[in-house]
Amino acid sequence: MSSRRRILLVGCGKMGQALGRGWLARGQKPAGLVAIEPNDAAARAAKDAGIPTVNDIASVDAAFQPDWVVLAVKPQVAQVSLTPFAKYAGTAAYVSIIAGIRIASLRASLGPKAAVIRSMPNTAAAVGRSMTVAVAGPGVTTALKSECTVMLEAVGEVAWIDDEAHMDAVTAVSGSGPAYVFLLIEALAEAGVRAGLAPALAQRLARQTVVGAGELARQSPDTAPVLRQNVTSPGGTTEAALKVLMAKNGLQDLLNEAVAAATARSRELAG
Ligand SMILES: NC(=O)c1ccc[n+]([C@@H]2O[C@H](COP(=O)([O-])OP(=O)(O)OC[C@H]3O[C@@H](n4cnc5c(N)ncnc54)[C@H](OP(=O)(O)O)[C@@H]3O)[C@@H](O)[C@H]2O)c1
Repeated sequence: MSSRRRILLVGCGKMGQALGRGWLARGQKPAGLVAIEPNDAAARAAKDAGIPTVNDIASVDAAFQPDWVVLAVKPQVAQVSLTPFAKYAGTAAYVSIIAGIRIASLRASLGPKAAVIRSMPNTAAAVGRSMTVAVAGPGVTTALKSECTVMLEAVGEVAWIDDEAHMDAVTAVSGSGPAYVFLLIEALAEAGVRAGLAPALAQRLARQTVVGAGELARQSPDTAPVLRQNVTSPGGTTEAALKVLMAKNGLQDLLNEAVAAATARSRELAG
């Protein structure tokens, strides 16, 4: 990260702290970073992580002129309290990671001059493995997009989309996606128990299987279908299971339905 970049981080809870830690680990100078966090416990944790933190916007040193304002508050907070940050619109660009709040709505609070990028990370940001998707609003230059990519890469991978309408589907796939994988661990463990394994062993097997398969998928140049075929011998045990999972009304149909439900809910929440 450029050592000259100055970032104002608004909201330093779970996601804000993941970003702050990621930036510091990548060479961001603490002098160029200020977090605003009113919650005492979160502020203490942020300070412990080396993130300079104040309680409110009034406590930000007037001499601190950010290049970026990163909005990481809850959606309910964003609806009511972003207007004070409009004062940075002339000199800074904004990145929002707030779920469900559209660029038009952010610009309604931040003003028509505000260059706003909307992004959607996921919970794996906590371990630097987020899949983050971003979309640029009016006035966001290619140079700003590049800088933003570097900032968001501090917590994982970044992909850009051109059409903000796709954010609902993105939310349904990668935003909510980690929960589907956690459910897979739970369900696989439960199935192991039903097949006669002790619960603790079944949970361990299920968890490490997902971790190992995920790591293999990450490191391997092969696609998911190839990786699957590589472990499926004709007439074998994996094939027997996949016949069930890949049948009509199997995993694909369930996920189609789940992602459609999450997409529709995301659209509803954004209003
Ligand atoms: N966590 C995820 O996996 C995830 C994934 C994708 C997107 N997001 C988005 O990221 C945003 C942050 O999520 P999170 O999980 O980090 O939530 P969080 O842990 O609750 O963090 C938000 C923090 O902002 C503080 N805050 C409240 N009002 C504020 C204000 N006016 N100025 C500055 N800070 C204020 C909150 O304090 P109080 O608790 O006292 O209100 C809280 O500590 C949300 O909009 C969420 O939609 C999160």
